[in-house]
Amino acid sequence: MWADLLPVGRMGSGGFRRFAWTAADMACREWFRGEAATRGMDVDTDRNGNLWAWLGPPGPDSFVTGSHLDSVPGGGAYDGPLGVVSGFAAIDALRARGCTPKRPIAVVAFTDEEGARFGVACLGSRLSTGAADPARTLALTDSDGTRLDEAMSAQGHDPVHVGADPGALQRIGVFVELHVEQGRALVDLGAPIGLATAIWPHGRWRYDFAGEGNHAGTTALADRRDPMLSYAMTVLAARKQARLAGALATFGKVTVDPGGTNAIAAGVTAWLDSRAPDEATLTDLVTAIAAQATERAGRDGVRLSVTAESETPLVDFPAGQLDWAATALGDPPRLATGAGHDAGVLARAGVPTAMLFVRNPTGVSHSPAEHADQDDCLAGVAALTELMVRHAC
Ligand code: GLV
Ligand code: MN
Ligand code: MN
Repeated sequence: MWADLLPVGRMGSGGFRRFAWTAADMACREWFRGEAATRGMDVDTDRNGNLWAWLGPPGPDSFVTGSHLDSVPGGGAYDGPLGVVSGFAAIDALRARGCTPKRPIAVVAFTDEEGARFGVACLGSRLSTGAADPARTLALTDSDGTRLDEAMSAQGHDPVHVGADPGALQRIGVFVELHVEQGRALVDLGAPIGLATAIWPHGRWRYDFAGEGNHAGTTALADRRDPMLSYAMTVLAARKQARLAGALATFGKVTVDPGGTNAIAAGVTAWLDSRAPDEATLTDLVTAIAAQATERAGRDGVRLSVTAESETPLVDFPAGQLDWAATALGDPPRLATGAGHDAGVLARAGVPTAMLFVRNPTGVSHSPAEHADQDDCLAGVAALTELMVRHAC
């Protein structure tokens, strides 16, 4: 499975670029259909573009596992695909154990988990749970100005049915997402797998700094309204405020208008990603960063507007499924994470959900250095298979 996925959306850096509704995403979906067909599983694309491969007819109290196939720009091989590959591998292991499922089993690939193209993460699961408004979501645009509904239509998916899908969720008896760990906790604990307890509240805020474009060689410093200065100070302020708050703040994406070496920028747009252990800390942090940015922009003669593009509250994974999985798997370590996941969106919508992490020896993610050793991947598949057998057989 890995060999077939490897060339899809591969960049020169060794990372992957598999944005939603692009040719790379379509190739991932083709791969998914192929793996399902090999196992005699029927594939259904739901109204939001999520793919479901069913072993047996879809029905109530199903065991559903899976993750996503899209990536961030320059992402690693495992974030997302590990959960889907492991889902199919667990089906094989289940059969090798001679189990005849009494309940339906599905492998799911949620669409646009990373939000790399349209700016909002977990779009497929947010739409299905009703956490995202269909009209507002379909009007999101990518960096070329293409709307989500246009991008879907261009790939043959009719956006007219996009929206809450309670029927799809009601079939789920338990959803288990397996995911590569995106930090070093399991390395430090010496454990191949772990269970998620919680997802930190997090969000994305767009900062638009509007100044005055001008000549870099003739404009006196005192006469400039340079948005780059306000932006630069904001990056440093965000880092400092996050450190003081015991939280995280990152500016990882910025565009400069017009972007000339010998021109003072007319505008800078940058995106703040911020996460904290609790909602009050996150709110205080993003408020403090915006206040400092606004104050600095005022001194620079720059107009600033800050827009919340997505906000995701704290997720506590349900104790029932956490204890069930812990008992089945011999009580592996439990970890909270700062990374968002479709499992978190489902858990918030009341779907019985658990999440498994597989050790990542580099501790790096959203980068080509992300890794999981094969033995640990197999431990993940064995754990997933055990849960599948316990629920479905
Ligand atoms: C998902 O990868 C996230 O950025 O939280
Ligand atoms: Mn990710
Ligand atoms: Mn992921």
